[in-house]
Amino acid sequence: MAFNVAFNALYLVLCTAFGAAEFGPAPRITWHLKETNLMHFHVSGISNYSTLLLSEEKDVLYVGAREAIFAVSSLNVAEKLHEAYWKVSDEKNNECAWKGKSKQTECLNYIRVIQPLNDKTLYVCGTNAFQPTCDYLNLTDFRLLGRNEDGKGRCPFDPAQSYISVMVDGELYSGTSFNFLGSEPIIFRHSSQSQLRTEYAVPWLNEPSFVYADVIRAPANNPEGDDDKVYFFFTEVSVEYEFFSKLLIPRVARVCKGDQGGLRTLQKKWTSFLKAKLICHSSENNLIFNVVSDVFILKHSDSSEPKIYGVFTSHLNNVGLSAVCAYNVSTVEEVFAKGKYMHSATVEQSNTKWVRYNGEVPKPRPGACINNEARAMNYTSSLNLPDMTLQFVKDHPLMDDSVSPVGNKPKLVLRDVIYTQIVVDRVKALDGNSYDIMFLSTDKGILHKAVSQDAEMRIIEEIVLFPHLQPVQTLLLSNKEGKRFIYAGSNTGVVQSPLAFCEKFTSCKDCILTRDPYCAWHPVKRSCVNILQDSTADGSLIQKLNGDASQCPDSAEIQKSMKHTVKSRSTVELKCSQKSKLANLVWQFSNKTLKAELPKYHLLEHALVIFNITDHDAGIYECVSQEEVGNIKVSQVLIKHVIELEKVPTTLKSTAHPYTQTEAKSQITTIPAKVLDFSTWKKTTAQILTSPVAFTSVSAKIQESTTPLTEMHSKVPEVQIEKAMYLTKPSDCSLLIFLVLLFGLLFMILLVYNCYKGFLPNWCLRIRTFLFSGKQKAPPDFPDCEQGVKENLVESKLTPSQYDDTQKIPHDTGYETELDYGNGTVPHTGKTDEDQPFDVKCDLKYADSDGD
Ligand SMILES: *[C@@H]1O[C@H](CO)[C@@H](O)[C@H](O)[C@H]1NC(C)=O
Ligand SMILES: *[C@@H]1O[C@H](CO)[C@@H](O)[C@H](O)[C@H]1NC(C)=O
Ligand SMILES: *[C@@H]1O[C@H](CO)[C@@H](O)[C@H](O)[C@H]1NC(C)=O
Ligand SMILES: *[C@@H]1O[C@H](CO)[C@@H](O)[C@H](O)[C@H]1NC(C)=O
Ligand SMILES: *[C@@H]1O[C@H](CO)[C@@H](O)[C@H](O)[C@H]1NC(C)=O
Ligand SMILES: *[C@@H]1O[C@H](CO)[C@@H](O)[C@H](O)[C@H]1NC(C)=O
Repeated sequence: MAFNVAFNALYLVLCTAFGAAEFGPAPRITWHLKETNLMHFHVSGISNYSTLLLSEEKDVLYVGAREAIFAVSSLNVAEKLHEAYWKVSDEKNNECAWKGKSKQTECLNYIRVIQPLNDKTLYVCGTNAFQPTCDYLNLTDFRLLGRNEDGKGRCPFDPAQSYISVMVDGELYSGTSFNFLGSEPIIFRHSSQSQLRTEYAVPWLNEPSFVYADVIRAPANNPEGDDDKVYFFFTEVSVEYEFFSKLLIPRVARVCKGDQGGLRTLQKKWTSFLKAKLICHSSENNLIFNVVSDVFILKHSDSSEPKIYGVFTSHLNNVGLSAVCAYNVSTVEEVFAKGKYMHSATVEQSNTKWVRYNGEVPKPRPGACINNEARAMNYTSSLNLPDMTLQFVKDHPLMDDSVSPVGNKPKLVLRDVIYTQIVVDRVKALDGNSYDIMFLSTDKGILHKAVSQDAEMRIIEEIVLFPHLQPVQTLLLSNKEGKRFIYAGSNTGVVQSPLAFCEKFTSCKDCILTRDPYCAWHPVKRSCVNILQDSTADGSLIQKLNGDASQCPDSAEIQKSMKHTVKSRSTVELKCSQKSKLANLVWQFSNKTLKAELPKYHLLEHALVIFNITDHDAGIYECVSQEEVGNIKVSQVLIKHVIELEKVPTTLKSTAHPYTQTEAKSQITTIPAKVLDFSTWKKTTAQILTSPVAFTSVSAKIQESTTPLTEMHSKVPEVQIEKAMYLTKPSDCSLLIFLVLLFGLLFMILLVYNCYKGFLPNWCLRIRTFLFSGKQKAPPDFPDCEQGVKENLVESKLTPSQYDDTQKIPHDTGYETELDYGNGTVPHTGKTDEDQPFDVKCDLKYADSDGD
C-alpha cells in the first residue's frame, strides 16, 4: 500500500513534467524504416549527397555528392544509371592543405551546383579544394567536358558555407560567398552576356546564410508591364536593431530578370536589389522566429498566386522550437513596390542608426523593374536609369516595411523539432477543396507531413527517412502525374518516399481516420487507395477529412481473434496495438469496459497484463480503439482475445516452464501471446520484483524483442522504441520511473560500498567506526586511496629537492589544493587523481585516519 502511494506520487511528479513538454500537434502515426522499405541510394566511399536535380521528362534524378555526380532513376533511386567522378588533383589538394584547410575533408570537391543548361548538358560547380570550379556535363556520354571555368560567385570556396542557385532562362543566379575567407557575400548572376552582382557593403548583405532562391514569373499580360523576378531567402545579421550581440533577421530579397546594371553608378551591379524582413511571430505566446532555415514557393497551375512557405527556428527566447509561416507573393511585391525605405541616419556624434526614410523618393522608383511607368518616362533599360534613382537604391536597399505572414501568425509551431527543409504539395481532395500538404524534414532524418484544415494544423504522419538521426539536407518533390515522390538527400545517401501510405490502412475506419487528403477507401477493392493513382472507382470512393467514419460499410470490419489456454494463477499478456498515437485503447471484458487497475490488471501501451488468472477471468477480452475527431468519436474493435483455463490445475513451481500452449484461431493471426507464470518472475528478478513497476519494465522489454508479426488490421509490427523521434505519450512513464528507482538503488549500493571502503567523509566513517569497533582497529592494508597518498609521501621524501622551503609536505593539512605546488612540478598527483574518483574525500579520510 505504502509503495502504491509512493509510486503514484512519483508518477505524478515525473509524468506531468514529461507531459508538459507537449507543444503543437503530435504526429498521429510514425512509419519506421522497416515498415516503409523506402528506396535508398548510396555508393560506398561517397558521402555528402547534398545536391539534387530532377528531370521529370527523362525520369532521372541527378545527384551531386562529394567528388561525384550520379544519374539515378527517379522511379527507383536505388537504380543507378550513370556516374561521373570529379576528383581534386593532388596538386590542388596539397595547395589547399598548405593554406590550413583539412586535406581529408575540406580540400575535396563538393558538388554544389547542378543546373540544366539544355537537353544535353548540365552546368555543374564544385568547391574543388577551395578553388570553386564549374564545368559542363555531357548527358549523352555522362562525361565532364573538362572546361574548368572559374566558379567564383557561383559556388562557395568552403563546403561548410551556405549556397543556393537557380537557373532561369539559361542564366545562373546564385547566392554564396566570393572569397577564400568566406567573408564577402554575393548574389550573382552569371551568363555569357552580362554578369551582375551585389555591392560589397554591409547594408546590402551582412553575413547572410542563404537558404533558397526561385523565380516568380510575371503574369502573361500584366497591366504594369512588369518583369520576372528572382527571389532570394536568407538569414543575416541585422543593421536596424540594436542588440547586445549580433541579431539575426530573416530576409527576402529580389532582383529583376531584365536588370542590366547601371551605366556609371552601379555598373555591373544590381539596380533592382531590394530586401525586406520576413515576420514570423506568434503573438499569442510571444514567440519570435528570427532564423529562416528553408523556403519553398508553391506555384500551382490552378491560377492562384504563388505562395511562399518558410520554416523558421529561433536564436532568441524560444530555442528548440520550429515554426512554419506562409506568405502571399503579392504581400512581398507590395512591400517592394509601395513600401517605405530605410536609411542610415547619424545620431549622437558618430553613431549611425537605420530608421525609416520619410524624404522624397526619386522617380522612377528605386529598385523597381523596368515597367510601363518607367517606359513612359523613356527608360527602357536599367542602363539608362537616372543617377538619382541608382544612387538612392545603392544607399537604401533595405525596406522599412516588413512582410507579414498569412493570418498574421505561424501556421505551425512545434517544440523539440528542428526543421531543416520544406516542400509543399497542393492536392484536390474529393470534397472539392484544395489542401496544401507540407512535407517538413528534420535534423534527425524524419519527415513530417502536415496539413491545415479549418484553421487547425495536423501532422498526419511522420516518416523515418534515414537511420542514425542524420539531418536531411535537401528535399525535392516531383510533380509528374502518377509518379509523385519525395526525394531527400543527406550526408550518407538519397531516399525516395511516396507522398502517402494509404495502402497501409487495412480497415475503412483507419483509412478515414488518417484524414489524409491523398487517401480514400475503395469499397469494391476493400482497400485504402491513393486518389491520385486510383481513378477506377469513379465516385464511390469514401473520403471524409473530418474523420466521420459512419459511411464505412460494416462488412469492411475484419474481426481478428485469438484463443489462449492458460494455467490457473498464471499471468497473461494480451497484445493489442494501434498505430495512431491519438487513439485510446479500451479493454472490454464480457461486454463491459474493464477497469484496468492493479493488482489484478496492468495496462501497457500495447498490451493488457492479467495477473493470477482464475475461473472468473476466463472469457472474451476485446481491445477497442477509440479516437476522437472533433465531436465525433470513432470506435473499432481491433482484436478479440479468448481466455480459457487449462483443465488440470497446476501447482506452483518456480522452475515451471512459463509458457503454456497458445493457439491462434484466425489464420491471419500468428502472434504468440506472452503467457507468463508470475512465480517465475518473482524468482528471476530478485527483490525489486515486488513492485509492479519492475514488472512493467521487464515485460515491456520482452514485448519489444518480439519479432515482427504478420500484418494485421490496425496492428503493425512494433519497432524499437528508441527510433521513434517524437515520443510525447506520458504512458511511457513507467519505464522512466523504473529507471529512476533503479538508479536510486544503484546509488544506495554505491554509497554503502564507498562508505564501507572508506572513500566517504566523516559521518559515514563514524558509522563505520561504530559498526566495526571492537572487531578490528583499522584495515590491515591501506585502502587504495590511502595507498596512493602513501606512495606520494614516499616519493616526496626521496626527492626532497623538488620542494622548496615554503612547500608543505603532504603530511600536513590542506595539500589537496593543487595551487600549493605553484611551479608546476606536480607529476605524482596526476596519477592518484586518475585512480581515485573521490580524491578530495580521500584527503579528508586521510586526515581523519591520521588523527586516530
Ligand atoms: C560530409 O559528410 C560527413 C559525414 O559523412 C560530415 O561529417 C560532414 O560534415 C559533411 N560535410 C559537409 C560539408 O557537409
Ligand atoms: C557529348 O558526347 C557525345 C558522345 O560522346 C558526342 O557526340 C558529343 O559531341 C558530346 N557533346 C559535346 C558538347 O561535347
Ligand atoms: C520619349 O521619347 C520620345 C521619342 O524619343 C519623345 O517623343 C517623348 O517626348 C519622350 N518622352 C518623355 C517623357 O521624355
Ligand atoms: C493572401 O491571399 C489570399 C488569397 O490568395 C487572401 O485570402 C489573403 O487575405 C491574403 N493574405 C494576406 C495577408 O494578404
Ligand atoms: C456481448 O454482446 C453480444 C451482442 O452485443 C452478445 O452476442 C454476447 O452474448 C454478449 N456477451 C456477453 C458475455 O454478455
Ligand atoms: C490468486 O488468487 C487467489 C484466489 O483469488 C488467491 O487466493 C491468491 O492469493 C492469489 N495469488 C496471488 C499471488 O495474488
